Amino acid sequence: MTRYVRRFSRTERALHWANALGFFVLLGSGLILYLPSLAVLVGRRPVVKDVHFWSGIGWVSLLALIALAGDRRGLVRTARELDGFDRDDARWLLGRRPAPQGRFNAGQKLNTALTAAFTLLFFVSGMLLWLGERDTRFRFASTVVLHDGLMYVSVVLLVGHLYLAVIHPATRHALRGITVGTVSEDWANRHHPKWTPK
Ligand code: HEM
Ligand code: HEM
Repeated sequence: MTRYVRRFSRTERALHWANALGFFVLLGSGLILYLPSLAVLVGRRPVVKDVHFWSGIGWVSLLALIALAGDRRGLVRTARELDGFDRDDARWLLGRRPAPQGRFNAGQKLNTALTAAFTLLFFVSGMLLWLGERDTRFRFASTVVLHDGLMYVSVVLLVGHLYLAVIHPATRHALRGITVGTVSEDWANRHHPKWTPK
């Protein structure tokens, strides 16, 4: 019989899916603003702009709310696991094997750090774009370049993330962890041998 171990708490899953939902809404509305042909097709650019901005505010607020109202101690523990980087992680990134991994592999640690940094930068640059329209003191030529650049890089990361989560046979079992919360003990031992689930 397959034995399952807990991989993600309810707070972690709620955070992941709120983040994903917000990201997709912002990517969709952002692309309409970015591509003139889509803006013409949709017609009402000012409305899309409002939807985009307020979704951004809602997104960041929801993430903060889930983190504050949820299992904060668990999140701090997870943040420590994501923050630690040992010799095996370096070996893993360099493609050297064996490189036994903990609860998160080095690629996932990197992905999380980038995702967190990008969320902050999206927010700051988005706020500057919004304020810049109202007050020229907040208007900088490079803000939109940063905001668009973040979009390009995060779409590349997302494509890799979705491939590993949904298509790649060896890793797609992880989908069970981020939806129902558990993964098989056997899979955990194979992919994350240094992780001891609590
Ligand atoms: C807290 C988050 C965010 C805020 C407050 C925000 C705010 C804004 C604002 C005010 C604009 C300017 C609209 C205009 O005047 O045309 C804008 C444009 C845009 N945003 Fe965001 N945004 C956020 C997150 C995102 C994310 C996550 C993405 C994509 C993944 C994104 C993609 C875009 C794109 C593609 C544009 C069009 C820029 C252009 O015209 O070159 N934004 N955003
Ligand atoms: C339908 C869309 C998505 C699916 C199916 C999905 C799937 C997953 C899965 C299965 C995991 C758990 C991996 C593990 O066991 O450790 C995960 C983790 C994660 N997801 Fe997603 N995800 C989606 C969207 C997103 C989006 C839009 C973002 C960010 C913009 C994101 C950021 C992350 C991060 C930072 C982690 C933790 C580190 C990692 O596993 O790379 N995800 N996701």
